[in-house]
Amino acid sequence: MRLRVPPSGPLSGSACAPGDKSISHRAALLSAIAEGHARIEGFLEADDCLRTADALRALGVRIDAPSVGTLEVHGAGLEGLREPDGPLDMGNSGTGMRLLMGLVAGREFATTLTGDESLSRRPMDRIAEPLGLMGARVEGRGERCLPPVTVHGGSLRGVTYRPPMASAQVKSAVLMAGLSAEGATTVVEPAASRDHTERMLAAMGADVEVDGLTITLRPGRTLRARSMRVPGDFSSAAFLLVAALLVEGSEVLAAGVLLNPTRTGLLEALAAMGADIEIADRRDEAGEEAGDVVARAGKLTAVEVGGELIPRMIDEVPLLAVAATQAEGTTVIRDAGELRVKESDRLAAMARVLTAMGADVTELGDGLAIAGPTPLTGAAIDSRHDHRIAMCAAVAGLVAEGETVIEGAECIGTSFPGFAATLRGLGAECLEETGFFPRRSGFQPDSVQRGAS
Ligand code: S3P
Repeated sequence: MRLRVPPSGPLSGSACAPGDKSISHRAALLSAIAEGHARIEGFLEADDCLRTADALRALGVRIDAPSVGTLEVHGAGLEGLREPDGPLDMGNSGTGMRLLMGLVAGREFATTLTGDESLSRRPMDRIAEPLGLMGARVEGRGERCLPPVTVHGGSLRGVTYRPPMASAQVKSAVLMAGLSAEGATTVVEPAASRDHTERMLAAMGADVEVDGLTITLRPGRTLRARSMRVPGDFSSAAFLLVAALLVEGSEVLAAGVLLNPTRTGLLEALAAMGADIEIADRRDEAGEEAGDVVARAGKLTAVEVGGELIPRMIDEVPLLAVAATQAEGTTVIRDAGELRVKESDRLAAMARVLTAMGADVTELGDGLAIAGPTPLTGAAIDSRHDHRIAMCAAVAGLVAEGETVIEGAECIGTSFPGFAATLRGLGAECLEETGFFPRRSGFQPDSVQRGAS
């Protein structure tokens, strides 16, 4: 699919971002090994999370989907998982693969997990190493343990593990394995990464203790299934908010967005840039903080970001780079080397995309330097199958002169189905082309109300 993005007039109105991807994965995974039945509303029906649900079905868990965005998970209990008949195909989803590796490590059978071309290039040694220390054997390709991977599960022992990088995927995989280990499992993070797994485990009755960067899980307690509503994904809402900041005259409200501080580092970076962002109606959803966020267009100044802020905005760093092209001064992003092992090398990808559009970008070993403001020009951009890169190009396209054409835009569906329709609902004119027939569908998702912020 091709997405055409012409320059946009002011964006206005309110929109709901789709359900949070990280929480949707965890809700399915932890409900599957809990006792009892959980109704999960607001589940992200995007390819990544649907793969996780299918993988759990293949492991013997009954999961019904009575309506769009609702899952009914009939918990099988930790002991209820059974050996799948064949490999579990996790598609594009690093989170799905890594968390499942942890989940099956304590089971007395072997599980093979595969993925698409992008996932097949992503390192799984970061999971294989701690699982190995706990007593599981993980096979993958080459030194970095690339997928397909096979986890030979068995009896595990609790360990204290200090991951070299701040990664919620690593932390979560180790904690999930810890549920069936003998003795306590402790993860000591170098910096705080998203903490949804700890929160959800505690809410389901697990014995989890968090002391700063040290998380300890003591096995033995039964997980109790809990129904929940998944809040809107901050990482998806962020595209709408940054679009509003950049397109002159815009004001957009993103409703019901997850505001967990381990996720909202971008808001801190944007505040330091002088962005006009307001948070209204903070509330609790699924044991997580949520609220409405309003962004208004205005002048931005450059910022320097690095250190502990990066893990808290890891998926939004590319978007910060887009904002930086329109900010006064040179924005410097450091300590972001982890971006090189995401769905694509996102530092290289953003340097490529923004340079093609006329921005002044220098790629650093562990970050980017972007001098601004520079006028952007529409360009032909290849998403190279990375959903966040495709959406970043679309946001940049809204403020570029001339049309931006994003090839391979179907990958956006891995995290934000309805992205183009949502932008249209706010007043942008982007157009999806499938096959020979351009589609400027009149379809406007219910969740978007033009001019209603
Ligand atoms: C995620 C963790 C992050 C993030 C990814 C989702 C999660 O990855 O980039 O999109 O749900 O745990 P890392 O843990 O590798 O930083």
